[in-house]
Amino acid sequence: MTNNELPALRWGIVGTGLISSWFVADLTIDRANRGANHTIQAIGSSSVQKGQEFASQHLSGHTPTIYGSYAELYNDPNVEIVYIGTPHAFHKQNALDAIRAGKHVLCEKSFTLNEREAKEVFAEARGYNVFIMEAMWTRFFPLVQKLRQLIHVDKTIGDVHRVWCDFGLPKDIASLPITSRYKDPALGAGSLLDIGIYSLTWVILALESNLRTETPQVLATQKIVHHVDVATSVLLNYPDGRQGVATSTFASKTPANFCRIEGTIGSIVVEGLAASVPTSFTIQLRNEEPQKYEFERPGRGFYWEADAVAIDIAAGKTENDIMPCDETIRIMHLLDEIRRQGGAQFPQDLE
Ligand SMILES: NC(=O)c1ccc[n+]([C@@H]2O[C@H](COP(=O)([O-])OP(=O)(O)OC[C@H]3O[C@@H](n4cnc5c(N)ncnc54)[C@H](OP(=O)(O)O)[C@@H]3O)[C@@H](O)[C@H]2O)c1
Repeated sequence: MTNNELPALRWGIVGTGLISSWFVADLTIDRANRGANHTIQAIGSSSVQKGQEFASQHLSGHTPTIYGSYAELYNDPNVEIVYIGTPHAFHKQNALDAIRAGKHVLCEKSFTLNEREAKEVFAEARGYNVFIMEAMWTRFFPLVQKLRQLIHVDKTIGDVHRVWCDFGLPKDIASLPITSRYKDPALGAGSLLDIGIYSLTWVILALESNLRTETPQVLATQKIVHHVDVATSVLLNYPDGRQGVATSTFASKTPANFCRIEGTIGSIVVEGLAASVPTSFTIQLRNEEPQKYEFERPGRGFYWEADAVAIDIAAGKTENDIMPCDETIRIMHLLDEIRRQGGAQFPQDLE
């Protein structure tokens, strides 16, 4: 298929922070085997100046329309899909506004602050018949697809019965201003929704062959400082005895081998910069040499989820099979339960 025959999508970017800069850089790099063509059509920011600085810094050679408000971007008829890169607490309203303007939506993780908000957004998207997905980009890595095939289809390490995954990222919460998204509970602050969601995702991907159908028991504890969870530890306990431990912390950086998957005849260690960005995994079967699988990844890897979205929309779909709405709701449900047991609360939980 030539580039001219690929699905094409015109994106409007909401918020000009760190993640939006990574996302647009990836969508505009030269790469082989692209699955779709992406245009950054517009940038929506709190000010035109900030939007212009973002475009000149991260989009050289491209000339998106710059808006000093999100509302103008939602109403731009040339924008087909809105990418939401604001702090979690704004995802619900940003998504509702985009949907009501008839736009498709790709919304950063965590999708919302809690399950109730997620259900509200998905119901609205259904009403407007637009595509919507949580931007859980890691699930779209070819590495993850290959790993799941080896574990669940080929049964390479036998039956998987235990998984550990950790995501640690040092953050000195005490020194941050109260307006920081890492410190303000009203912005969804805490390690769980920021990075623990990845640990939880790995445990689920490795332990569950049929996603969305299982309801493990949750046992969780959190260390709360300044009303924010700075560390969370979760045990997912499945009725047949499978166990998964998902942890996150702002106290230290996790080493490269962030995830270990244990089966009846061997184990797999997943390596990478962090649980969000896996780069390789190593299979160790009993009495055999370890076998390492490495994967090419130009840029960071956000284009895999973006390609999947473009292909779905071109096919007339309103949700994606790898990250469907039900799975996001299940994850939000688990996150709610973890916070209920651990103690981290957001003011919005009481609304
Ligand atoms: N997928 C990943 O690997 C990954 C990595 C990092 C973050 N994330 C997710 O992306 C989201 C944003 O994180 P980030 O690290 O990019 O945040 P960030 O650097 O603080 O940027 C967030 C942007 O949102 C807009 N915004 C609107 N109201 C805001 C407020 N009251 N406070 C701060 N910003 C506000 C701002 O853009 P304007 O001023 O231009 O409107 C700001 O630049 C979070 O939900 C996070 O979980 C995902």
